[in-house]
Amino acid sequence: MTKITAAITAVGKYLPEFILSNAMLEKMVDTNDEWITTRTGIKERRILKGENLGSSFMAIEAAKNLIEKKGLNPLEIDLVIVSTATPDMQAASTAAYTATKIGATNAFTFDLISACSSFLYGMSTAARYIESGRYKKVMLIGSDMNSSMIDYTDRATCIIFGDGAGAVLFEPNEEGYGLIDEVHQTDGNGREFLQVPAGGSWMPATKETVEQKKHFVYQDGKTVFKYAVSKMAEVADKILERNELSKENIDWLATHQANRRIVDATASRIGLPEEKVMINIEKYGNTTSATLPLLLADYENQLKKGDKIIFAAFGGGFSWGAIYMKWAY
Ligand code: UT7
Repeated sequence: MTKITAAITAVGKYLPEFILSNAMLEKMVDTNDEWITTRTGIKERRILKGENLGSSFMAIEAAKNLIEKKGLNPLEIDLVIVSTATPDMQAASTAAYTATKIGATNAFTFDLISACSSFLYGMSTAARYIESGRYKKVMLIGSDMNSSMIDYTDRATCIIFGDGAGAVLFEPNEEGYGLIDEVHQTDGNGREFLQVPAGGSWMPATKETVEQKKHFVYQDGKTVFKYAVSKMAEVADKILERNELSKENIDWLATHQANRRIVDATASRIGLPEEKVMINIEKYGNTTSATLPLLLADYENQLKKGDKIIFAAFGGGFSWGAIYMKWAY
């Protein structure tokens, strides 16, 4: 029997119109364009504005973009996964609402939450459903409205994050294209260094949690930075070794974009030149679950069938991992 692999066959994206530039941030907090550019590589980020618009709004728009580009009938979608760190609500899944609004009424749905690794883990999850042979079309969407959990008076975090969404479609492939291998790891001791402490079951919302700004992202940047650099490089190395890949035969590196210096360090550890490294941090900042699909959408017309891509991500939890994929179109 031919082995079924799970291949990405279409991508879509959505970015809010509003651009928050470094110049604007200079007026909001004690920072400057030079610091932000040299320490992070970010020039601007997108922010979703408007009443009652959450991550589902962007997820729906990214999915619609994919559906239109691919000419896909949404009734054929079997499963919709929304990877997100900022779901619309605690108890009703963002994916259920998204699927209904795009007309994917035959699909079952769930959210996948693992901070900045949400989309990477979503790729593994989507692939397993396809590889099972039971499901033919799985839509994976990464959508994050990071601005909903950022304190715009805190210069340590507000300069980094942006909003956005990207969507991919996974389908079965019998020619060996698609997801080939993966290495994923976590370390729960890391949660003290990167978290939104309140609003969940551990510290439910109260008047005090709001007053004490516990619903915003807290990050010990230096510690997270060190872990991110070493762990992303470690899993990328492991996946190369295991698949007998060398820097010469990798076509692209697509990593989570939290800081340009982390991306560059991962690339240099595996010896990849700049032209093989996908970058979007300067335009969008750290978009959490949207980063990887936005990279694919922005580089889609440079990708060729058979291109070997290494994906890697690191985020809260701590959680991290890498995926090796052969591009299918
Ligand atoms: O996506 C999930 C994973 N997240 C990450 O991977 C993020 C990892 N961390 C980082 O990217 C970096 O640690 C940051 C960009 C968050 C911070 O950069 P850093 O080079 O680690 O800076 P730092 O926190 O060590 O701060 C250095 C200095 C400090 O001043 P002093 O104490 O040396 O006088 C900060 O107060 O820079 C100051 N600083 C700023 N200055 C201007 C911190 N934020 C700013 C700012 N503008 N926005």
